[in-house]
Amino acid sequence: MREAGKCTAFILEALQDRIRPGISTLDIDRFVEKTIKDHGMLPAFKGYNGYPASVCTSVNQQVVHGIPSARCILKEGDIVSIDVGTIYRSYYSDAARTYPVGEISPEAARLIAAAKESFFKGLQFCRQGYRLSDVSAAIQSHVEGEGFSVVREFVGHGIGRKMHEEPQIPNYGRAGRGPKLAPGMVLAIEPMINAGDWPVEVLDDDWTVETRDGSLSAHYENTVVITEGEPELLTI
Ligand code: MF3
Ligand code: CO
Repeated sequence: MREAGKCTAFILEALQDRIRPGISTLDIDRFVEKTIKDHGMLPAFKGYNGYPASVCTSVNQQVVHGIPSARCILKEGDIVSIDVGTIYRSYYSDAARTYPVGEISPEAARLIAAAKESFFKGLQFCRQGYRLSDVSAAIQSHVEGEGFSVVREFVGHGIGRKMHEEPQIPNYGRAGRGPKLAPGMVLAIEPMINAGDWPVEVLDDDWTVETRDGSLSAHYENTVVITEGEPELLTI
């Protein structure tokens, strides 16, 4: 999982310089798929429940699971959430970032920052002895404190020899509930947050998830190992 995570981290880092006005989301898919294969790994998303690409590219009001397309050209002021999963020797990694395209509005920048910050608030509870919903509550509290909302219909998850394992990890909820965290657990923690209200809907392509009110959305995800001490981040 460490090896898989390193590849995912490398790709997310490399995308920072490649995401600019004029590229298509299909260009992003081609880069991600080639880089994964060059590392001797497999794209975790391709073929997953019939998903047709190696990466999810969700633009502006799209929340998650946007399908790359040659017709989707990024333009100045957009934000784009990129979700990457890799498999190395049957072990998975999963991570996501939201990127600015050129100059973006102050509100969009605040939204992107809040998604990342909320992940790190949750990470403070990724230690043995805390309960799972301590992580969820910390994320929700930060996001709502910034004046944004937490998506309810999609959640984080355990990860290992499958992409989605137990437990589900909501980014909202009351502290002090759910399983106690213990060394060896590996969690994909992934706040998805909206500038407006939290309800979302799935488009006719059966994948793309958008905010119902058309407001912007941001996503930040890492694969995290619970240890006896500091949590270990596999995808940074
Ligand atoms: N990264 C997503 C998740 O955490 C998975 C993408 S769904 C896929 O659940 F179908 F596109 F693979
Ligand atoms: Co995930």
